[in-house]
Amino acid sequence: MSANGSPTGKQPTATYDSPFLKACRREPVPHTPVWFMRQAGRSLPEYRKVREGVGMLDSCMRPDLVTEITLQPVRRHGVDAAIYFSDIVVPLKAIGIDLDIKPGVGPVVEQPVRTRADLARLRDLTPEDVSYVTEAVGMLTAELGPTPLIGFAGAPFTLASYLVEGGPSRTYENAKAMMYGDPELWADLLDRLADITAAFLKVQIEAGASAVQLFDSWAGALAPADYRRSVLPASAKVFRAVEEYGVPRIHFGVGTGELLGLMGEAGADVVGVDWRVPLDEAARRVGPGKALQGNLDPTVLFAPTEAVEAKTREVLQAAAGLEGHVFNLGHGVMPSTDPDALTRLVEYVHEHSAR
Ligand code: CP3
Repeated sequence: MSANGSPTGKQPTATYDSPFLKACRREPVPHTPVWFMRQAGRSLPEYRKVREGVGMLDSCMRPDLVTEITLQPVRRHGVDAAIYFSDIVVPLKAIGIDLDIKPGVGPVVEQPVRTRADLARLRDLTPEDVSYVTEAVGMLTAELGPTPLIGFAGAPFTLASYLVEGGPSRTYENAKAMMYGDPELWADLLDRLADITAAFLKVQIEAGASAVQLFDSWAGALAPADYRRSVLPASAKVFRAVEEYGVPRIHFGVGTGELLGLMGEAGADVVGVDWRVPLDEAARRVGPGKALQGNLDPTVLFAPTEAVEAKTREVLQAAAGLEGHVFNLGHGVMPSTDPDALTRLVEYVHEHSAR
């Protein structure tokens, strides 16, 4: 096993000492590190070009494309971390679930998981199922130099929301019907997904990823009591499973203001915050001993530069007293974002947080 969480482990000392990993560990940094969720993607013309004629899931299985797409925003914006180009449904596809990512829609599952018999289709994930991930992470860490690579996976609830609904949903009525109506089946489904997710994160860490993010994008649909009872145990299992590697573990969701304390409790080292809760208030909700990541509203980037800068200063000011802060957007980069606005934002955060 590699020990990416120490300077003597698999990652070079310069990576271990990078501002991003230091901020995750709540150590002093020369400037606030910045990366963007969905930094690799449709906002970049060079991304649209290499993706021409290649399906989303097909591109995730090609190490050459994954490497190129992951590096594009690092080259262009000078962000402090790369995020591995993939999608949350890749491990499900890898264990044989019939699904596709439809342009403009999102993941669509041919046969939704609704019964105990359906659950049997979710087998364990082995490293051989995703050998292209091991290959691509190896290529990436060689190319990235000191810049850390973030591995990621979907959290059990967000994955279950696609599997049970059969596609994107605003209300999650089928998923919640299972959660309330057949709590045992629900718990077993989330436990299965926790094992698959943990196995997928381990592959990325063993291949050289320096940090991991668990995307529970849609957890904000849940009341805190339901989250605690029916979701937190599975996410906590994922975090425990990768704890031994010592790499920072980030936990992110959208609309999770009421869940921030619980999301920290699930075991993350860094809690991601969307734009609805200021970071000083988020720190109170999360409690001590965790770094925070966030939280500029991604739509702010459509405003003139002065407005972007004013909102960025607000985020930095709210973060001034935090133990550790990784600057990010409150959710992913929107596809029609001007890439130059992102480059300017990286420069602005670096300059205005220099210590
Ligand atoms: O740069 C990065 O952040 C890495 C790439 C990344 C993708 N998906 C690539 C992608 C990451 C981290 C994800 C995670 C993901 N996928 C999440 C969690 C993050 C979040 O945004 O909340 C979710 C909920 C999904 C499911 C999913 N996949 C959706 C909702 C969509 C968008 C559908 C659309 O077309 O608008 C996808 C497809 C997807 N994943 C694209 C990309 C770049 C767009 C498809 C394309 O470029 O052809």
